[in-house]
Amino acid sequence: MATTETTAKTTSATAAERLAQLKTYIAETQENEHPDSFLIAVLHKAQELYGYLPVEVMDEVAEQMGIPTAHIWGVATFYHYFSLTPPGQHVISICLGTACYVRGAGQILQALKDELKIDVGEVTPDGMFSLQPARCLGACGLAPVVMIDDKIHGELTPKRMVQLINQYRKQAKK
Ligand code: FES
Repeated sequence: MATTETTAKTTSATAAERLAQLKTYIAETQENEHPDSFLIAVLHKAQELYGYLPVEVMDEVAEQMGIPTAHIWGVATFYHYFSLTPPGQHVISICLGTACYVRGAGQILQALKDELKIDVGEVTPDGMFSLQPARCLGACGLAPVVMIDDKIHGELTPKRMVQLINQYRKQAKK
């Protein structure tokens, strides 16, 4: 393959385990965080655990934190990095950190938008890919970088990016 790949650590957990982790996070963090940033931190944690913010999880957060659900919805919909819909079968995280940006992440992002015909924060109609922005993925030496699921792909060009997407499409047909 033309791109450079590494594998990131992934975790899999049952729904009950994820909920327990979220509750523990809320309980442990509540004492330390400033109230204004606390809810955002909790929503980040929830999205990390679930891949998006399901309605029932936001209800749970509301109950745990004693905050109206409507307020949580307001915060979740205000920030573009929170997703209220399930991710695609393959989640593409494009790094828009400084090192990647100066080495062409903008062109990679445009190639992804053109090829997938979706914008950041959206899922392709067939449910195969979702596209999300990321800050530094910790692989600046390989910039520009995208992570697809748990794999880092580096030293990308727009052409290589499209080839990579097509590889995933071919694998899905097997
Ligand atoms: S800025 Fe993209 S991996 Fe560090």
